Amino acid sequence: MKERIDIENIDGQLFEIKVVDPDNSKPASFTHYLHNHKNGVSQFYKKDALSYVKEILKKEYPTEKITNQIAEEALRYLIFDLNKSVPFPAPEKPKFKFIDLFAGIGGFRLAFQNLKGKCVFTSEWDKYSKQTYKANFGEIPFGDITKPETKNYIPDNFDVLCAGFPCQAFSIAGRRGGFEDTRGTLFFDVAEIIKKKQPKAIFLENVKGLRNHDKGKTLATILNVLREDLDYYVPEPQIINAKEFGVPQNRERIFIVGFHKDTGIKDFEYPKPTNKERVLEDVLEQNKVSVKYYLSTTYIDTLRKHKARHESKGNGFGYEIIPNDGTANAVVCGGMGRERNLVFDDRLTNFKPVTNISGKVNREGIRKMTPREWARLQGFPDNFKIVVSDAQAYKQFGNSVAVPAIQATAEKIIEKLSCK
Ligand SMILES: C[S@@+](CC[C@H](N)C(=O)[O-])C[C@H]1O[C@@H](n2cnc3c(N)ncnc32)[C@H](O)[C@@H]1O
Repeated sequence: MKERIDIENIDGQLFEIKVVDPDNSKPASFTHYLHNHKNGVSQFYKKDALSYVKEILKKEYPTEKITNQIAEEALRYLIFDLNKSVPFPAPEKPKFKFIDLFAGIGGFRLAFQNLKGKCVFTSEWDKYSKQTYKANFGEIPFGDITKPETKNYIPDNFDVLCAGFPCQAFSIAGRRGGFEDTRGTLFFDVAEIIKKKQPKAIFLENVKGLRNHDKGKTLATILNVLREDLDYYVPEPQIINAKEFGVPQNRERIFIVGFHKDTGIKDFEYPKPTNKERVLEDVLEQNKVSVKYYLSTTYIDTLRKHKARHESKGNGFGYEIIPNDGTANAVVCGGMGRERNLVFDDRLTNFKPVTNISGKVNREGIRKMTPREWARLQGFPDNFKIVVSDAQAYKQFGNSVAVPAIQATAEKIIEKLSCK
């Protein structure tokens, strides 16, 4: 069992949070089996799925002999129950298959499912993201993608590989890096999967800073590996801003799209902006929000003093209150993520003094945005279930993608592959 400790910033205080990954592939195999019963892919997961069902049945009925036949029947029965309670089931008649790597809470999955894609494999090692993923898609992601055991569960013959992988430097001395120079990084794992599975298209997403990371060498290496070593057609990557695709969030990300040489595709256009009109007010909660989101007077004072100190030194670090007709800053999970997107909402404080866990609440109506508002900033619909603590939810939405920007690009990819 592996243990990972994350540091969370909650209201200016740092907390250690243990994120334990039990590294057990059986529950993931089980849900992947159920979700793929209509296509050949389920055979990849059958052995583990059966053994998992047997384990469960043995626990439930310790005195009974659980045979393979009984387990198979139970699996068939479970397939009936599938999709009953999840808000985002797989499309009924899928037109193409994709895999969702570094899946987080499934931003890519939502976008590709909206285009009638069937997700046939997903990997994410964070325990809490897996909970959100399961609650919304009914599927449990496999764990650590760097492990050969995890990679072995990836089926053949899917059309698109999606990955929003964390950015890491490669240790290349001078020359343009190739496949072997990326060994030990998460990009190497992505490249290895592409090499082995040869998907028709790939869609990678990363922070805008990837462009200048390590003086541009990181991106140059990624492109070199994709183009030269893996022989994909990869047009110039594009910086896409979420605010141009129907959400009021200034979030710039780099998108890298590529096509297998056998597709014959030699040109690609990233999507043009679809909707720049939405403003903060469009995503704010209609009802009064809980007092816990309001900042205490002491915290606001601290933020103001801090900002004044930094501004006098010439840098604009600090909190920011976004006007109702404005655009939010990018939601991010660390640092001052929440304080950079404060809003005015005096529906709570214009009556009488109120207190919350941090003390007396400010009378100006300054509050943090709620996790649901962050979900909306990322284009997640309101029936997307939030089943984790606020701290985890902020982290998950901050780490995720702006779904409409992903979907607009995915649509262009699918158009090119002609599997609409
Ligand atoms: C930038 S986030 C991607 C979020 C995702 N695109 C979404 O829509 O929510 C990267 C994710 O990769 C996961 N991750 C990092 N290393 C991993 C590994 N070795 N195996 C599986 N998941 C990993 C992290 O837990 C994190 O959720």
